[in-house]
Amino acid sequence: MGPEGTPVLITIEGIDGSGKSTLLSSLGELLADLDPLFTREPGATWVGASVRRAIAERMDPITEALLFCADHAAHIEGVIRPALDAGRLVISDRYSDSRFAYQPVVLDGVLPDPLQWLRQIHEGWSIRPDRTFLLVLPVEDAVARLDPAKQREYFENAGILERVQENYLDLAARDPARFVIVDALLKKDEVAEFIAGEIRTSARSSQSRPRA
Ligand code: TYD
Repeated sequence: MGPEGTPVLITIEGIDGSGKSTLLSSLGELLADLDPLFTREPGATWVGASVRRAIAERMDPITEALLFCADHAAHIEGVIRPALDAGRLVISDRYSDSRFAYQPVVLDGVLPDPLQWLRQIHEGWSIRPDRTFLLVLPVEDAVARLDPAKQREYFENAGILERVQENYLDLAARDPARFVIVDALLKKDEVAEFIAGEIRTSARSSQSRPRA
């Protein structure tokens, strides 16, 4: 068991440029006493390298989506489940909602109902997060924050990110008990302290529950 009770899975979501990286490093300091396991998608296992290659080479969208799902499966079995079983608090930078928000934009016109297809792929083995923090901000502010020196993934354009953010907000509206929407334009310290406080509360009040 974790220091405060049962293990908890927290996920952090938001469009590119929403400030997740800065937030994650602040949470590392603010929550150090809880000894959380920080992890991420894609790329917590070697499967992530094939995902990045598929994005860079613009593989067909079905291949790309399935690689993101494979990365998730490897992440769950290799990192998330063992940590939860060991009683750790787990905080993941991106998780299934990234698939549910990004891939429907890429799969639009390729499949009749991309979101339903993606949900079915996850069913029966994925682990539902206990809490998901969604960083929201105007897309133009997010794009302005992207590092111009870094090569951009093709997702990182305003038109796509606008639709990705709409998808995120729909997901949040359908699952208000899990999602916490956070204004990413607030001061960085304020965002980090608010989320750290909420994570502490979740870690304290969690109950044992089936995880499949
Ligand atoms: P990320 O590693 O967060 O971005 P960065 O390279 O800037 O650190 O994620 C890479 C990109 O992949 C990002 O644009 C979001 C996208 N993505 C998906 O489209 N689907 C997914 O399931 C995940 C996890 C990420």
